[in-house]
This record gives sequence, structure tokens and C-alpha cells, in this order.
Amino acid sequence: MTAMGGARIEISGVGKRYAQRRNSAHVVLQDITLTIESGEFVSLVGASGCGKTTLLRMISGLAPYYPGTISIDGQVVRGVPKRVGFVFQDAALLPWKTVSGNVAVGLNEVRGSYTRQEIAGIVEEKLALVGLSEHAHKYPRQLSGGQRQRAGLARALVGEPELLLMDEPFGALDAFTRLRLQEELADIVERLRTTTVFVTHDVEEAVFLSDRVVAMGANPGTVRDVVDVDLPRPRTSREAALNSARGIELRENILQLVMGTHTDRVAH
Ligand SMILES: Nc1ncnc2c1ncn2[C@@H]1O[C@H](COP(=O)(O)OP(=O)(O)OP(=O)(O)O)[C@@H](O)[C@H]1O
Ligand SMILES: [Mg+2]
Repeated sequence: MTAMGGARIEISGVGKRYAQRRNSAHVVLQDITLTIESGEFVSLVGASGCGKTTLLRMISGLAPYYPGTISIDGQVVRGVPKRVGFVFQDAALLPWKTVSGNVAVGLNEVRGSYTRQEIAGIVEEKLALVGLSEHAHKYPRQLSGGQRQRAGLARALVGEPELLLMDEPFGALDAFTRLRLQEELADIVERLRTTTVFVTHDVEEAVFLSDRVVAMGANPGTVRDVVDVDLPRPRTSREAALNSARGIELRENILQLVMGTHTDRVAH
């Protein structure tokens, strides 16, 4: 497989507020400035309600009208950009389509430029990447939760996205499946180097997968700090990465940042 290019994201002075009753507004995000380099894996970590999903939706053009700018490869986001793959907490597969059929949906508008055989080949390749080849003809109801999330990831990857947005994709899985999928995702992103913005509550998950972790504060949502995860790659073992001296230090620093109890600046 050829390596994919990744988009560069520039978020500059972005805020988001929602109108409330009596002319008041709920400020969800305030003055978010962050650059995500091509091929980088960046996690957003923060308390529930701090605006992580909102920020992902803004990057993907689904939540317009805000101060500041978000640009992808120098183009200001207006509408839903092409070549963006989205993976949700619940894979949101179409129940009447097989796994293959669901993955093919991810081809969207480029679908028409392929023959049926070509589509089958592309879908097969992505199913192999996420370890689902043997389940291609099953329907979503016949899959486990972990298999459904893998199918959701294959659907997001099939259009060869330049940007992958993942919103707590493993949040609903049991602990064991979650750890396995983390290792599989680490392997996949290391191979593809697609720029990825990954939302999670789980600091360990963020440290294991990321090049950088954005620790967000809440009410309003802000960037408290951005921490470089300088653990060596490839990170084949979750245990080894997280339980190294540096892994433990990073986890503690980020946890304190997220909880708002951090006193000293984190050493970068
Ligand atoms: N369409 C909307 N209208 C009004 N308020 C909204 C809307 N979408 C989100 N909010 C509010 O914005 C805040 C941030 O929501 P968001 O879903 O981005 O948080 P989050 O960090 O993803 O939380 P969680 O970790 O629980 O998923 C919440 O207080 C939410 O109620
Ligand atoms: Mg959310």
C-alpha cells in the first residue's frame, strides 16, 4: 500500500457559543489556536462538555459560524471538506447493508469513478487492514461491538482521507477489546500517516496513540496545554510505552492538566 498524504490543519482564534434563553449565550469554546501538522496524530482530552465533539464538528465543517478560522491545507473550511473520514463512538453502520456494503459507502462521490470490481478490491483492502476480511458478508447485527468499530474505521479509510477525525471511537467497547483496537490503530496510523484528530476521555489511550496531546480546560473550553508525546515509535506494545518512566510521567502530567490541578508547566 502506498503511504497517504496528510492534511495540515490550522485552527486560529476559534470560539463557539450557543444561544440560550434571555439573550444569553453559552460559551462552549474560547480562543482555540492549534496547528496540526501533516501526518500528525493529535488527541483532544478533556472533561465531558468541554467542547471536544464541537471542535471536531467544526473542523469537519458541520458546525459553521464562529469567530476565528479553521483551514485545511491553507483552504478555509466552508462546508464539509472532501477527503475527511469520520469515526464515531457508535459506528453508525447501515443495518440493511453488509460490512462490505457499509465500507463502500465511505467512497461517497468518488464511487462513480470506479467499476464494481475496483470497488470490491478497494473495500477488500481496507477490510484486511482492519482485520475484518472474514466478516465481509455479515450484517452489522451479526458483529461484535469491536468488529462494528473496525468496520466504521474501514469505511472512514476507504476514501483515502487526508484527515481522519475520531470521536471516542472505542468509548463503548469493553476494556479488553478497547486495548486491542488501540494497538491495531497504532499500527494502522503508523503505516498510513494520515493526519488524525482523536477525541478521548482516556489519558492512557491518548498517550499511547498520539504525537501530541491537547489538554483542554472546560467552561469555556480552552487549550490548557499541548504536550509532546516523545515516546519512541513504532509503539508496538501498549504496556511498554505506557509503563516506561517517560510514559508514566506523561500520563501524570496530562491527567493533572486535564483535572486543572497542574502547577508547573510540563517539560516539553
Ligand atoms: N447544537 C448545540 N446547541 C446547544 N448547545 C450545544 C450544542 N452542541 C453542543 N452544545 C453544548 O456544548 C458543550 C460542549 O459539547 P460537546 O459535545 O462538544 O462536549 P464534549 O467535550 O464532546 O463532551 P463529551 O466528552 O461528554 O462527549 C456542552 O455543554 C453542550 O451542551
Ligand atoms: Mg463528545
